[in-house]
Amino acid sequence: MHNIPYKKHVLVCLNETCKCQGSDKVFEKLKARIKELDLKKTYRPSRVLCLGLCGKGPNIVVWPEGTVYCGFTEDRVEDLIQKHLLGGEVLNDLLYKENISG
Ligand code: FES
Repeated sequence: MHNIPYKKHVLVCLNETCKCQGSDKVFEKLKARIKELDLKKTYRPSRVLCLGLCGKGPNIVVWPEGTVYCGFTEDRVEDLIQKHLLGGEVLNDLLYKENISG
């Protein structure tokens, strides 16, 4: 069992590299849509500074499952909300795919 105050917590990297790739637009749209849909009490977007995947961005992580999405663009925010957050469906085409070694 996870002890987090929200059903899901979406961390959006807003450090330099991801920001240059548009993560600020992803964050603002995600925040606005969560508010418009009256989901603020259960789904929380937060800014973070670097997820260690610079150059693959914009990068985001969804908790508690720890799903990492790379190359996440503004036009996929609605998919994230409707499919992943509300529907429990992972967006396979955006998943971080490299394996951890060692
Ligand atoms: S700048 Fe976003 S992962 Fe490093």
